[in-house]
Amino acid sequence: MMNIHRETVTDYPAIAQINTLAFGQDNEAKLVDKIRNSDRYIPELSLVAEIEDVVVSHILFSYIDLVDKKTLQVLGLAPLAVHPQFQRQGIGSALIKAGLEIAQANKEAVVIVLGHPEFYTRFGFQTSVIYGIESPFPVPEEFFMVKPLQNYHERYKGKVIYPPTFNEV
Ligand SMILES: CC(C)(COP(=O)(O)OP(=O)(O)OC[C@H]1O[C@@H](n2cnc3c(N)ncnc32)[C@H](O)[C@@H]1OP(=O)(O)O)[C@@H](O)C(=O)NCCC(=O)NCCS
Repeated sequence: MMNIHRETVTDYPAIAQINTLAFGQDNEAKLVDKIRNSDRYIPELSLVAEIEDVVVSHILFSYIDLVDKKTLQVLGLAPLAVHPQFQRQGIGSALIKAGLEIAQANKEAVVIVLGHPEFYTRFGFQTSVIYGIESPFPVPEEFFMVKPLQNYHERYKGKVIYPPTFNEV
């Protein structure tokens, strides 16, 4: 049985370990720590999935900037990590869906992700160019995706800027 809940302090070591194992480096674990200690952190959008009371996956959504004439805060989904022994069992998908529901309930407007299009389009993400949202990364446009939520409005366009926290790791 899988159980999804908001992270607690006691989950921090497992979250760091899962990120390190999933990505094969500790950059993402460090990123999670830095976001947690920044003003972009949203406690209810740092979620863990447990199987038999053991944390096997973590997802984090935090505020990033969408800059046009004005700067709007939108959600950035990063990182998402599933323990290697638990991948391809639907756990990552379940965490994305749970996070999107909370984002919707929080009346957020847009979620942004850099990732594999085959995976994220399953959850309604589309290439950001459709919405006039520009990636800060030199990647093929299909990898930089957005999911508009109910509160989406056309003023949500411009260039995405990640806070300095993301460059430090
Ligand atoms: C990518 C990841 C978050 C997906 O979570 P998951 O629980 O394994 O995925 P789910 O079981 O919910 O969904 C399965 C889909 O994920 C994708 N996927 C999972 N592992 C993959 C891999 N090693 N290579 C390519 N695609 C993969 C596929 O689209 C797969 O669909 P399929 O089984 O129909 O081919 C997880 O595998 C992971 O932590 N990988 C390492 C870290 C990473 O790359 N994170 C990037 C997030 S952008």
